[in-house]
Amino acid sequence: MSYKNLIIKENRPNHIAIIMDGNGRWAKKIGNIRLVGHKKGANSVNEVIEACVELEIKYLTLYAFSTENWNRPKTEIEGLMSLLLSTLEKELEKLKKHGVRLKTIGDISKLPQSVELKLKKAIEETATNTGLTLTLALSYSSRWEITEMVKSIVEKYKNTEITENEITSNLIESHLSTKDIPDPELLIRTSGEYRLSNFLLWQIAYTELYFTDTLWPDFKKEDLYKAIADYQKRERRFGKTGEQISNEA
Ligand code: FPP
Repeated sequence: MSYKNLIIKENRPNHIAIIMDGNGRWAKKIGNIRLVGHKKGANSVNEVIEACVELEIKYLTLYAFSTENWNRPKTEIEGLMSLLLSTLEKELEKLKKHGVRLKTIGDISKLPQSVELKLKKAIEETATNTGLTLTLALSYSSRWEITEMVKSIVEKYKNTEITENEITSNLIESHLSTKDIPDPELLIRTSGEYRLSNFLLWQIAYTELYFTDTLWPDFKKEDLYKAIADYQKRERRFGKTGEQISNEA
């Protein structure tokens, strides 16, 4: 039995966000270096993209490199950056064929120039695609994003472009790096860790959280189907009572 058969199409999440964790532990388990885990993790990235395309999910956001990841050993950072570059080179045509639109959130000016340029080119070449929007969070953290948002709103206030009363939740959203992306309905974290690690903290106010012990390199299509099927069993109330929700249905 596949969990895919349990998925109700009309009720699938519009936006799935994933904290891909456990590459290092996966490699250690088989006595290998961490980069081997990251390489295998790139295969899982392909799997979830394919599954989202097949299920016609509109948005997928992957936490690929956090602001805090800059503190990792230099060799690991370099390995991750070259993996990102080679994966982009290898997969770009396939992404285009499937109508995927690539985006990034985070401070990509901090990435090596070769990676930044490749990303910008891929973003440009896929900008008019109308299928899955794939957002890679790179050199991203929520606190960085929120700090940037505050700075730009203060700047506009100082220039009298906005008044205090115009500072609303919508205005804040329009100053986040996710401004064109709806909030996720489902956030998945792999590897048995129960943390949010500075990821999309504003955007996940009403998001359903799904944690699995599976290490990211072992995460396959079937694991994604299982997470979606689990999500569909939940009642999303947005602060209302269960009764109100059933009356609305
Ligand atoms: C977390 O595992 C994973 C990362 C910090 C990097 C994620 C990168 C990939 C999946 C590969 C390439 C990505 C793309 C988009 C092509 P960890 O190293 O923290 O694992 P650990 O907690 O077991 O040490």
